[in-house]
Amino acid sequence: MVYTAIDSILTGRYKGKKVTMRGWVYRKRESKDTIFLVVRDASGVIQAVVRKNSPAWKAAEKATIESAVASTGTVKEDKRAPGGYEINVQKLEIVGLSQTFPIAKDKSEEFLRNVRHLWLRSRKMNTIMKIRSEVLKYIHEFFERQGFIEVSPPMFISSAVEGGATLFGVKYFDDMMYLTQSAQLHLEVLIYSLGKVYCVAPSFRAEKSRTIRHLTEYWHVESEEAFSTLDDLMRLEERLLSYICQSIAKKCRKHLEALGLDPKELMKIRTPFPKVRYDEAIERLQKKGSKIQWGEDFGFNEERMLTQEFGGPMFVYAYPKKIRAFYVKGYQDRPEMVMSADLLVPRVGELSTGGARVDDKEEMLRSLQEFGLRPEDYEWYVDLRRYGSVPHTGFGMGVERLLTWMLNLESIFDSIPFPRTTRRSYP
Ligand code: 4AD
Ligand code: MG
Repeated sequence: MVYTAIDSILTGRYKGKKVTMRGWVYRKRESKDTIFLVVRDASGVIQAVVRKNSPAWKAAEKATIESAVASTGTVKEDKRAPGGYEINVQKLEIVGLSQTFPIAKDKSEEFLRNVRHLWLRSRKMNTIMKIRSEVLKYIHEFFERQGFIEVSPPMFISSAVEGGATLFGVKYFDDMMYLTQSAQLHLEVLIYSLGKVYCVAPSFRAEKSRTIRHLTEYWHVESEEAFSTLDDLMRLEERLLSYICQSIAKKCRKHLEALGLDPKELMKIRTPFPKVRYDEAIERLQKKGSKIQWGEDFGFNEERMLTQEFGGPMFVYAYPKKIRAFYVKGYQDRPEMVMSADLLVPRVGELSTGGARVDDKEEMLRSLQEFGLRPEDYEWYVDLRRYGSVPHTGFGMGVERLLTWMLNLESIFDSIPFPRTTRRSYP
């Protein structure tokens, strides 16, 4: 049996022809002598019309919302039908009858999260998941075109990358290990043989924050490049972001429109992005009435004020060492400042953090000490500074934050099929 996907029926290619499709009953409407079943499959929805005199009538009467069905009929053009085509059904088989589906209109967000395993069938989630898949494809395409090698870092790690506060500990036989917060340190190892490397892998943060931008498990795009500078890095990041946005605007026009978005907005994301030093960012914020003092880290509000001012993605770079991680390289003429850059976007704030890495062994040992870390926990990492060290840079960007911003999602939860947060690990 040949089954035809609904989106290909909707192209009109099968007008007047007989097709068989498989899917689930999305909506049902009955009149005295006709039953209208709107059927959905992975690709789209189409109306299936069953007349009383059809052999399919009995099954159509029985079919409930979310029942799985296989249906054979003739494709008919009908301007009034959603998608412009419908199917005059001759045969209908119920593959799996559905009990009363718990999701009806106007359910609360909280309810929908409890029945996430069912809510993922919605048109909205279907569309977001398709765009997510495309975004991941374009990330890989971009890095491949730039000559980066994809690598697979470990998920179990023995010491912190981003500070102990957000580490998840795991019992590992008789030892303790952690779930990775970032692949960065391991990517740094790999540049010494592969030059330019990247990965898209899960990261874990025991993050207490309950915001629209925090998950405890997220997908992390990270890259690391030998012989590169902070300027190279910012250029790489802005090219990546505009490549993804432009590609999605072109490839996913229909999906974007289905979410109520205008693809033109993504087309506008073009390089170069504004780049502002931390010092200047502080001055600008203070002028706008922010209470922030030099030396303090930006919060969500400061990030929002900055992106509002610049109207789109932008970088803030050259931060005080105190508010950055131990591995960020200092400026020679101003050692209290480090070569770190955050990419900020409207509404979501921080989309990525990246920077130049300390490449000198002595500076690394000093830095570990300053940050209260034990050099013996980072022995292999310090080794990289012993054997042919090179200037290098890298960054990390959360896939879910990227989607939340691109698709203007209310919360980061909808950017991933099964969000994990402090309060939610079900289903
Ligand atoms: O800023 P972060 O902590 O930087 C690092 O982990 C670096 N080691 C990355 C690197 O240089 N390779 O995390 C990087 C990005 C953030 O900018 C954000 O997009 C995302 O990871 N992220 C989160 N996304 C969702 N939920 C969380 N709890 C996140 N924490 C970080
Ligand atoms: Mg950061």
